[in-house]
Amino acid sequence: MSESKSALKEKISSMITELEKHNYQYYVMDDPLITDAEYDLLFRKLQKLEAEHPELIRADSPTQRVGGAPLSQFQKTKHTVPMLSLANALTEEEFTDFDKRVAKFIDAPAGKTLEYFAELKFDGLSINLVYENGKLVSAATRGDGEIGEDVTLNIRTIRAVPLTLRTKNPPKRIEIRGEIILYIKDFEKLNREQKKNDEKIFANPRNAAAGSLRQLDSKITASRPLRGFFYGIGDAQGYTLPKTISEYEDTLKEWGFPVGKLRRICKGAKAVIDFYEEVGHARESLPYEIDGVVVKLNSFAEQERAGFVARSPRGMIAFKYPPKKSETLIEDIQVQVGRTGALTPVAIVTPVNVGGVIVKRATLHNQDEIDRKDVRIGDHVVIQRAGDVIPEIVEVLKDRRRGDERRFQIPNHCPVCNSKVVREEDEAVSRCVSKNCVAQFKEKVKHFVQKDALNVDGLGDKIVDQLVDAGLVKKLADLYDLTYDDVISLEGFADKSTHKLLNAIEGACTPELYRLIYGLGIRHVGETTAKLLAQKFKSLKALARATEEDLLQVDGIGKELVISIQEYFSDEEHQDALAQLLAKVSPIEPKASTAKQTLAGKVLVITGTLPSLSRSDATRMIEDHGGKVSSSVSKKTDYLLAGEEAGSKLDKAKELGVRVITEQEFQGLIK
Ligand code: IVH
Repeated sequence: MSESKSALKEKISSMITELEKHNYQYYVMDDPLITDAEYDLLFRKLQKLEAEHPELIRADSPTQRVGGAPLSQFQKTKHTVPMLSLANALTEEEFTDFDKRVAKFIDAPAGKTLEYFAELKFDGLSINLVYENGKLVSAATRGDGEIGEDVTLNIRTIRAVPLTLRTKNPPKRIEIRGEIILYIKDFEKLNREQKKNDEKIFANPRNAAAGSLRQLDSKITASRPLRGFFYGIGDAQGYTLPKTISEYEDTLKEWGFPVGKLRRICKGAKAVIDFYEEVGHARESLPYEIDGVVVKLNSFAEQERAGFVARSPRGMIAFKYPPKKSETLIEDIQVQVGRTGALTPVAIVTPVNVGGVIVKRATLHNQDEIDRKDVRIGDHVVIQRAGDVIPEIVEVLKDRRRGDERRFQIPNHCPVCNSKVVREEDEAVSRCVSKNCVAQFKEKVKHFVQKDALNVDGLGDKIVDQLVDAGLVKKLADLYDLTYDDVISLEGFADKSTHKLLNAIEGACTPELYRLIYGLGIRHVGETTAKLLAQKFKSLKALARATEEDLLQVDGIGKELVISIQEYFSDEEHQDALAQLLAKVSPIEPKASTAKQTLAGKVLVITGTLPSLSRSDATRMIEDHGGKVSSSVSKKTDYLLAGEEAGSKLDKAKELGVRVITEQEFQGLIK
């Protein structure tokens, strides 16, 4: 080999090492040292060099993670060591039983605390990777545990899978086991693209990961940002197993495999249950889906002693969380009438546990949604609860239809007051336009008394229904005329509770003005707008008289709001209702701020966790000093007040050249 050739080879080799190092920082350490763009630049340099000298291309070069010629089918491959499955524990009790059982199997002395290794149960598809002398030589899916499919070409495209082990002394042969997954955000992005291209939509990240890995054309797999987490071992030659799983996973990490961040050695069942609960809380904020934690006897020797039952190791268990998605049946579809008359179809489902909460209803949003998903009464469906959001129907199981399912159409008449229903041309929502609809009125009262509005403690939805149904409250002002006899006549009320409610109503006679404005339920007027309006107009009367010009002077108030505010106050019935209301309540005018208006006209956005101020404190201080708080960064933003763990808003601010300030700088600004 010529001098220059060996120098070139050297150069390529160091570039590969460099790229692999960044891969490792990104996928394993979760701590990238360079930006994606810098990585791409380096990657392209290597690509160029390799294109000029194809004879120097190494099989383990990161440029070779692009996929190859499509296969006609996957080869079947028999696992050297079978890939087993796990028994499940669904409750704490089942887990404690497991703990007791295990103690017996390994003949532990009475009272001995067992040492477990607990980690995440990734919801993906399991994979077996074979490394010979440190090089990835093949990879197979689990299949039926005995025989899987050879997906080597596809696996090679996954950047989280090392092509070469990061060790000078690799085992002669070792099988590494783990789970291939897709991050939730990547799954969502993939589905968006699939939809645009009129391709299949995946039901969940797991299916999308499986669909992406099992592609005969590995170039397609290469285009999907699959990831992996690794935890297991199959066949091993020329490798001395450490004593514990925790040490083994440390080795995996050193060798270049991503391992779960949340993992812990737990002494005894109680410690495991604590871990399970902690992870349960963190679950919602993980970037990928998990369906439980896996608990394993930490010692390999003890694992061995525990043995196997029905193709599962007895020393391990999957301690599962209730699924956030569940299957159920739509028993009926009902229509709810909202405060503004909007009709919302709601599916009444057979009660089912979704992520720990019993769900009986799921929203169907509007007719277009029903039509798009083709949801019918009698359908089996998958429902999902995300965060605190109202459960939604994510999938209709059409292959379970028997033919007697019934389509649903939002009625032409309000289901409560029977008035005509109108759907504006450019709106998805149908509305009951009656002014006397009792369903709308009930919702208006509920909105009026809620915490962020008049804040009448103890006046819950059920009591509002009772008051309206009994004819005691026919307009908002009637609330203030309720007597002891009125309230005690209602079911469920006794002397004490009656006094309590009447006191709470009396306490709501002098609300801050913005609460009253918000409580009226003017369309599009949320709490923030209500505050702005209160600050500007100082009284309900002045607001009612405000011209378009006056209203537009208020920062953040646009045409749409002006129309709905003016529509509200020009309605004679509203005028009457307000006059009656103002005879009972005396709103407190907002105090003129005594603080110096150092932020007058400035728009600030808050992000991240501030060292000493809470969000609401910071908001109040900004408003007090004449500034305005907005929820998103735009060209109009003057300052981004950023604390720790500031996310996309910080990126956006940098992109737009918005000045970013710390809490300390903020304090300086307002002084
Ligand atoms: S240990 C005997 N650890 O869950 C199998 N499995 O329900 C030993 N899984 O087939 C598996 N995360 O695909 C283990 N941290 C984890 C896991 C995990 C996900 C999967 C794996 C297994 C399935 C069993």
